Amino acid sequence: MIITIVGGGSTFTAGIVKSIALRREELEVDEIRLFDIDKERQDRIGILVDWILHEDLKTDIKLVITYDKKEAYTDADFIFAQMRVGGYAMREQDEKIPLRHGCVGQETCGCGGLAYGMRTIFPMIEVIDDTEKYAKPTYWILNYSNPAAIVSEACRKLRPNARIINICDMPIAIIDVVAAAMEIEDKKEIVYDYFGLNHFGWFTSIEYHGKDLMEPLREYIKEHQILMPAAYLKDKAALAAKPTGDGDDQQNRHTKGSWYYVWKGVYEIMELFPEYLPNTYLNYYLQQKEFVEHSNPEMTRANEVMQTREKNLFDGIDNYVKTGVVDETVFYAGSHGDWIADLAIALKNDTKARFLVITENRGAIPNMPYDAMVEVPAYIGKNGPEVIARDNIPLFQQGLMMQQLNSEKLLVEGCIEGSYEKVLKAFTLNKTVPSMTVAKEILDEMIEANKPYWPELK
Ligand code: NAD
Ligand code: G6P
Ligand code: MN
Repeated sequence: MIITIVGGGSTFTAGIVKSIALRREELEVDEIRLFDIDKERQDRIGILVDWILHEDLKTDIKLVITYDKKEAYTDADFIFAQMRVGGYAMREQDEKIPLRHGCVGQETCGCGGLAYGMRTIFPMIEVIDDTEKYAKPTYWILNYSNPAAIVSEACRKLRPNARIINICDMPIAIIDVVAAAMEIEDKKEIVYDYFGLNHFGWFTSIEYHGKDLMEPLREYIKEHQILMPAAYLKDKAALAAKPTGDGDDQQNRHTKGSWYYVWKGVYEIMELFPEYLPNTYLNYYLQQKEFVEHSNPEMTRANEVMQTREKNLFDGIDNYVKTGVVDETVFYAGSHGDWIADLAIALKNDTKARFLVITENRGAIPNMPYDAMVEVPAYIGKNGPEVIARDNIPLFQQGLMMQQLNSEKLLVEGCIEGSYEKVLKAFTLNKTVPSMTVAKEILDEMIEANKPYWPELK
């Protein structure tokens, strides 16, 4: 049993490997391979991964660190993909260019997400093609690479038969916070219903052992004026503070800096629309003006990540090489990797466990298009997701989703066809953009910044 991690140099690789290794009995994993295009970065992550597998958890899982596609994919069972095409340097551009034009600047939402999508579509198709060429025919690609909404639409369109499941950890990060806020320890017992697009959805019910949690949660959010567990709220003043880069930032990255506003947004949205619990990402679409007001175009989330998560991790690895001592707080391990490893277990062992996945609608939400890539619950077995169908969704959510969906679909079409006009329509249609002129200004600046990565638009 072979698992290949594409984007092996990611800041999340160590955590994912830990989650895999802790589940080695169920996964029956013999070999983990790391594959990346950045040798310097992946070699350093490889040192930490080797420590996790062979010193920390003392497993006999073989580790292969490679830059060769054939070696990476041959006979692989699972491909976990988490590429960041263009790295943090381009994430910074995705965030800062729209902000300079008074628009939301975010890595997966609004113009930033569209730009990141244009960079990622073809590299992701390459991953599928290489997998088909070399891996076992029963392979599964579990893709985390963002922007997952756009990536999944491109895969559906260009490689409809690929065995790929696109996933996101935000809903489970929200459930982690809900569990902590409600003081529930066995969070796996929480059952929820949800619908939306990726980074664009709503929890419609949350239950614990059959008991409704939505109502107590509404009260909790109203009382605290933020969706944050009491444990995080102890030091309220520190919440909105700039990340300091200490170990606490690593473990609780959502409590600091720009993420604070995202959790605060849940309260603000629910004050006006209390029916469902919104995905935190909806704040970028419903509070565009406020986002621009509280943002600093010189210091965005990309800068925070480079100064904290990325720096701590690589400093920690250098320190291990020098001293032989590993400080485990330098790398994040937890829900993110657990989610992907648990999904692999469900596929491999045909458990029919329930997961939220990004998948083709095929009527699951009757009043959304048949071919829309939606995020909905599904039972996962060896043949993939069995999606749970639901009733029509309300007009407000459906209207928002259609606008976002069509913006993303136009982007994918524009990228494939090399059509400037279609991509401009995608930017113009996005809810974060106030006019076609602003859309054009942002797009033209994005084209310059993305020259090495985007297909040519005519
Ligand atoms: P990172 O930059 O630390 O890691 C990404 C790695 O991908 C880098 O080592 C880079 O060299 C590599 N890479 C880039 N292009 C590649 C290609 N064509 N082939 C192989 N490798 C390539 O970024 P990160 O912050 O650790 O995030 C990694 C990815 O995971 C991002 O796409 C991020 O958005 C995504 N992510 C998704 C979720 C989710 O909910 N879906 C959650 C967390 C992170
Ligand atoms: C959440 C989202 C991911 C996104 C990540 C960004 O986990 O689900 O899709 O990549 O946040 O986190 P960061 O710490 O890099 O801002
Ligand atoms: Mn996500």
